[in-house]
This record gives sequence, structure tokens and C-alpha cells, in this order.
Amino acid sequence: MSRSAHPAGPRHADVLPEGHYTAPADDLNALDPKVWAHTVGRDADGVVTVGGIAVTQLAEEYGTPAYVLDEADFRDRARAWRTAFGNDADVFYAGKAFLSRAVVRWLDEEGLNLDVCSGGELATALSAGMPAERIAFHGNNKSPEEIERAVRAGVGRIVLDSFQEIVRVAHIAQSLGKRQRVQIRITVGVEAHTHEFIATAHEDQKFGIPLAGGQAAEAVRRALQLDGLELIGIHSHIGSQIFDMSGFEVAAHRVVGLLKDIRDEHGVELPEIDLGGGLGIAYTSDDDPREPHEIAKALTEIVTRECEGARLRTPRISVEPGRAIVGPTAFTLYEVGTVKPLDGLRTYVSVDGGMSDNIRTALYDAEYSVALASRTSDAEPMLVRVVGKHCESGDIVVKDAFLPGDLAPGDLIAVPATGAYCRSMASNYNHVLRPPVVAVRDGAARVIVRRETEEDLLRLDVG
Ligand code: LLP
Repeated sequence: MSRSAHPAGPRHADVLPEGHYTAPADDLNALDPKVWAHTVGRDADGVVTVGGIAVTQLAEEYGTPAYVLDEADFRDRARAWRTAFGNDADVFYAGKAFLSRAVVRWLDEEGLNLDVCSGGELATALSAGMPAERIAFHGNNKSPEEIERAVRAGVGRIVLDSFQEIVRVAHIAQSLGKRQRVQIRITVGVEAHTHEFIATAHEDQKFGIPLAGGQAAEAVRRALQLDGLELIGIHSHIGSQIFDMSGFEVAAHRVVGLLKDIRDEHGVELPEIDLGGGLGIAYTSDDDPREPHEIAKALTEIVTRECEGARLRTPRISVEPGRAIVGPTAFTLYEVGTVKPLDGLRTYVSVDGGMSDNIRTALYDAEYSVALASRTSDAEPMLVRVVGKHCESGDIVVKDAFLPGDLAPGDLIAVPATGAYCRSMASNYNHVLRPPVVAVRDGAARVIVRRETEEDLLRLDVG
């Protein structure tokens, strides 16, 4: 790797344009444990290591960009959720955050269930041996073929998302001679304090059946009448990257209110309630996420209290964390290509990936951190924007951050907390190849999703 110099520019922290950024950390070489996977540190030479392996070695063996996933950390977080909720509740990992067969096996071994939301995710789960009864099948537009596959496989629950789907699933199950366990997803009218595109409990959107106007109650009425369905509970997912528990409190209150109405009208106490996922993680040092045991305690207390008030037996609770388990366990390793200082503005640092491996910054204005990973540096901090190699000016990975002023082409930089919704939302824009996922544990690394190749691209292009 070359270490060539680049022209002098606005590198120092005292030359700052207007913008939203926090002051540089006192020590740019420090790695805040809040945003980095558990086993990440620096070795004696200052190189970032994970699971005991230096990123320079990973870059040499697997190339860049690469998602590097700390398997021990993934298992720790999965187990922490499982333990926090105990045996009276179920934790369904939301596969949309990141799914691969290795991940399915880890989840199975750690005693978690799995939420899938497409035929592809279902196929991945089943092919890795996840028992079907521990799978929940989601989606606002499941195709009849997907529903049939799920019913035939014997998935533990299908989460119904519309009036039409209630009939569709009932019909398919009945024609297969089965009675499918289902939940109904409702929207409770909560405004989650998160980006508009990832908030899901307000009524004006595509997911769920609104509680308002008695629509959810009507959906329950219909589901209870159909022989092909066994209605086991009500589902609510209020959004993503949420830190404030008050949204869950309102949601639980309204879901329990519906359970009470169902009991009063039908004499049936539904045995389950699912509060979805959405718990936030730290992308930067400014974020303060809650621990799984705090979340479990808070949610259990809310539901128990609400049920006592409504004189209902407390239903079995389930949750569906995706980001909170996998998000912090991975970072993206990039090689710096060009360093372009813009006088009076900032320095643009281009890396060998970009919006095709992390669309979240462009799509949600998401904030990320970044660190020089292949060495330490005592140079003055410079304000940077980390950008990709795509033909688009919105191709930004980290909008505002500080890196050492002597950053140079060939340096490796790492962006933490990219485990969730980066590989799973990756694209081939500009025919850029999707990076591999390299899992590291106890000094050993292995590829769990390989790097895409030009042959892969050309195989789909049938001329
Ligand atoms: N359950 C349901 C029904 C969901 O729709 C979702 C996320 C989850 C669970 C998991 O949410 P989590 O715990 O991972 O926040 N692409 C966006 C996030 C979209 C989430 C969609 N549904 C992002 O990158 O932030």
C-alpha cells in the first residue's frame, strides 16, 4: 500500500465550514466501545484488530471493501436478548437487517427465532436448518406462492397485513388441509421519533391494519371465522432506530386495549402479543442505546401493567430486534483511494465502495463514525466527508467526521456499526461489486458471504 502525500488543504479543526458535526474526539486513535464490536481494539503497532486479527491482514486476504463481522459479538448480543426476555417470551431476529446461512445457524444455536419477510429470506432460513416452527413470515404483499411455501414448510406464524391477505392465507392453508397460526399486524397510530422512511406505526402508510375506525377489530372478526386460520395474537412494529420507550408504551397500551375488546366481543383471550423490533444502536458516540435487559424489563412491565388494568391474562410477548443484534457487530473496511482537500470547506476522502455497500447515509441521512484503521496517527484532525466511487454526488458514506490530517491513499479506514441494513440493502449500482462478509472469531476469519465477481454480474446478463 502506498503512503503518498497529498496537497495541503483545510485539514485542521480550527478551519471549519458550517455544518452539523461534533468536535473531534480528543484522541482520534481511540475506538469508542459504544460504536465498535466487542473484540475490536488496536495491536502494538496501532493496527485495528477484531477477534485477534489485524485489519491489514484481512484486507490482504479478502480485499476491500469488506464487511467484517465479529461472530463472538453477534452471539453475545443474541444471547443477551434471549436471556433478557427469558423463557416466557420469544425473540425473533429480524433477518432483513442481515441474513446468511451462518447467521441462521448462530441464531439456532443461541435459541433465537427468526423473522423473515420474503421468499428469499425464507429459503435462506430453511436451507440453513432453522426449524420452520421458529420462523415468522412477514410482508405487506406476500405472493400466493410465498404463502404456500410458508404454509407447507410449517412456519410458526404468518403475520397478516391486510384484509385480502386474511382471506388469501386462510384459503391456501385450507386447501392444503392445514390450520395456519397467524397474527394480525395493526397500526396503533404512534408517531415514532425516527426518520419518516423507517417509522411504521402511523396510519398513513402501507403496513398493517389501522386500529382506528374499528378496522383492526373487523380484521380480527374475519380471521376468527375462517377455518384455515388459528389467530394467536396481535402484532405492532412502530419503526426503527428508536431510543425513546414511550412509543412502545403507547403501542402496548393500544394493543392490549384491542385484546380486551376481543375478549369482550368474542370471549377469546389471544395468547400472544408481538411488539416488533426497532431498538436503536449507537452509530456515533452521541447515541445512547439501552441494554436488552432494560428493554425487556420495560416492555414486560408495560404489558403486564396494561393487562392487569384490563383484567386479562398477560399474553406471551415476542420481539423482533434486527439492528440491535447485528448492527454493532460489523464494520466496513475500505481502502482510501483519493484525498481531495477543498479550500475553506472540507477534505473529500474517496473509498473503494460507497452507496452500493451503504445506502443508509443517502437514504436516511444516517450518521456514521469512521477511524483510521491501518495505523495510528498524531496528525491534527481534519474535517472529512467519506465518499464512494459512484457517479453520484450524493454517494456519501460518512457525512462529517474527523480523520488525521496525514491520511493518504492506501490507508485503510473502517466505518463501524454497519452490520445492519448495509449488506442487506447493497446494490450493484454502476456495476460495482458487492463486498463479502468476513466473519472473525478467536483468531480465525472465514468468508460467510463471498465477494461478488464480474462473472456473477455477467451471468445474469443473458444478452
Ligand atoms: N419487525 C418488523 C415487522 C419490521 O418491519 C422490522 C424492520 C423489524 C422487526 C426490525 O427492525 P430493527 O430492530 O432492525 O430496527 N432499512 C432501514 C430499516 C427498515 C426496517 C424495516 N423493518 C434502515 O436501514 O434503517
